[in-house]
Amino acid sequence: MNCFAKRVSVFLGGLLVLSFASFGTSAAPFGNPEDIAFGQKLWSALEMNRLVGEKAFHPMPYETAPPHGNIVETLDGRIDIDARNGVVIVKKNFGKRDETTVEQVADNPAKYMTSITVMFKRESGYDPKNKNWFWAKYFPNGSLMKNPKGMALAGRVAKGSDKACIACHAGAPGDDFVYIHDRYAE
Ligand code: HEC
Repeated sequence: MNCFAKRVSVFLGGLLVLSFASFGTSAAPFGNPEDIAFGQKLWSALEMNRLVGEKAFHPMPYETAPPHGNIVETLDGRIDIDARNGVVIVKKNFGKRDETTVEQVADNPAKYMTSITVMFKRESGYDPKNKNWFWAKYFPNGSLMKNPKGMALAGRVAKGSDKACIACHAGAPGDDFVYIHDRYAE
């Protein structure tokens, strides 16, 4: 390859990388900087309301079917974020299937907690097709978990895909994306 051809191919390669990079950030329905920022704000609000963190209230844990933990705690109610009041559902997931017992989790939740999955009802227009839920999955210390592509699990996870939060919760009874009850069905 002569020098000119080489330069052209490097230039074209660069363009390709650039266009993929911008596709990745603008078209993704989750994991963008604004999703991450909102996910962090949500975590702080949950902590302030004692739904997560060291001072969190604990309901009695219960056993559940996959895909969430073997044993879970679920709490829900309303919290304020940016002066807007919205419904939040917090599910803490614990232990290893067939190994951990409800008694172990009740006695020592922090030791067995593996992740925290949260649904927060955003303003109308956020994601009308999916009832405006914001989805997030955190490590117990509050940092956001990522998918295998390195995208943070925060936002419209994973709108347009047949896997993950939205696709699976679309099958929940009451058409509200919530499995355990229909209290927030509209
Ligand atoms: C393959 C299906 C599936 C996927 C994927 C899934 N969930 Fe769930 N989720 C369920 C089921 C079933 C329940 C109810 C049973 C239970 O309590 O575990 C549930 C319960 C919940 C609840 C309690 C409210 C409710 O709907 O009952 C929250 C909050 C939640 N999931 C968040 C998430 C988040 C956030 C993600 C993605 C990071 C996610 N889920 C991915 C199936 C799924």
